[in-house]
Amino acid sequence: MRLLTVLLLLLVLGGAEARREGRRRRDRARGRGRASAVKRFIVNCKEYMEDGDKYLDCQDRRLTAVLLGWPEDIDHLLLARNRIQALQDNTFSHFRNLQSLDLQQNEISLIEEGAFSGLTKLKTLLLQHNLLQVITEAMLIPMPQLTYLRLHDNPWKCSCQLDSLVRFLQVPSNRYMGNFAKCAEPTGLRGQKLKALDAKLLCSPPAEAQELHPRPPGMQKHPDATSLCYTYVFPKPLLDCRGRGLKTIPTEIPASIVKIDLSFNNITELRPKEFVGVKDLKLLNLSSNGLERIDTAAFVSLLYLRDLDLSNNSLRYFDYGVLEDLYYLRTLSLGGNPWICDYNIHYLIYWLKHHPAVAYTGLVCSEPSEFQGWPVENYVKTYNADCPKDKQVSQQTGTGTTSQELTAETDEEPILVPSPLRDRRPKKFEIYRLS
Ligand SMILES: *[C@@H]1O[C@H](CO)[C@@H](O)[C@H](O)[C@H]1NC(C)=O
Ligand SMILES: *[C@@H]1O[C@H](CO)[C@@H](O)[C@H](O)[C@H]1NC(C)=O
Ligand SMILES: *[C@@H]1O[C@H](CO)[C@@H](O)[C@H](O)[C@H]1NC(C)=O
Repeated sequence: MRLLTVLLLLLVLGGAEARREGRRRRDRARGRGRASAVKRFIVNCKEYMEDGDKYLDCQDRRLTAVLLGWPEDIDHLLLARNRIQALQDNTFSHFRNLQSLDLQQNEISLIEEGAFSGLTKLKTLLLQHNLLQVITEAMLIPMPQLTYLRLHDNPWKCSCQLDSLVRFLQVPSNRYMGNFAKCAEPTGLRGQKLKALDAKLLCSPPAEAQELHPRPPGMQKHPDATSLCYTYVFPKPLLDCRGRGLKTIPTEIPASIVKIDLSFNNITELRPKEFVGVKDLKLLNLSSNGLERIDTAAFVSLLYLRDLDLSNNSLRYFDYGVLEDLYYLRTLSLGGNPWICDYNIHYLIYWLKHHPAVAYTGLVCSEPSEFQGWPVENYVKTYNADCPKDKQVSQQTGTGTTSQELTAETDEEPILVPSPLRDRRPKKFEIYRLS
């Protein structure tokens, strides 16, 4: 960047000094060429450092090709969501340090065999959500370090031409390559994973392949995350399932995902253990889903979750225990839900009181009418003031809640029973905050 600025300066100064007509014209032409290349680069892409690595972010730029003039010493090149249709030989050969290359969500249907030559350090190559039908193993040979290869959501044509790729993907040491990629053609093989195909079938006549593998037509029963949602690896592993019309949490969420955006879907219920496979999850966005019910065990294993967005749903209260696993939670968005200010809401207030580090928003009563618009915590305070403890206990026995829990939930005093003993649910493990 500094070098380019210096060059520009020299050109400008040069132009001012040189008054002779011929020279000026020549300079102007050259200057314009460079200035526009520089400008295009500045406008289009963002260069930054993170953890000592150099990134060039050219996502969402409507690019149809890799442009000349991009810095060559970058470690990561982000080209997602552009309009690239083909990759010619040596497209990337000057990026000798490149470790990751993100080409997802383009319109790539053709990759020449030498497109990736020179990428001897490349570890991650993302080609999902494109229009690829066939590629061969030869394309991958220039990248000896390649470990992660994403190919899903391409209309793979499982014919003899794909044979070398399929065999390559099935080598046991290539276990992070091409997972979830599926055949779109021929119909007899549609929906089958490339990883699991019987490679011998590819080069046999199609009629035979269809006979050997009769497939009922139709969709998969359980929608899986990688074919329904967009996955991003940089800057943080993110699963973007925003507005996909989902009715349930998708299956097969990759274990490395740190953020999931499920906002604007139609998920009305969270069932037990929906997220057990994604233990590193830090942000979960379930905003605007019409959520009505969250099972007590829905958030099991989300120990590291920091941000939970449940805003704009149809929640009225939380079942006792829903939040118990969210040990590191820091923000909880609850606005736009019809919270009912009756006895059931006490668990939520009780939990929040015992987790003062959690910043929450939007906890406002919508019913009954006498408390409408009140902050829920004010309602609980009023409730406690109206009902001294001994009165509550004698009144409430027989409602299914024991007097001991009731005391625990509403008491302002330090609780005398150590918390593990108060816990109703058997737990496999318990974590104590040490500081
Ligand atoms: C969500 O699901 C409900 C019940 O199945 C349905 O009535 C509603 O139209 C759906 N909304 C959307 C946006 O799909
Ligand atoms: C969740 O998604 C909604 C809508 O897409 C957005 O407005 C909100 O900021 C998101 N919440 C978090 C915590 O990122
Ligand atoms: C919740 O819905 C309202 C109205 O539809 C909208 O204005 C608001 O932005 C939504 N909030 C989020 C976090 O999506």
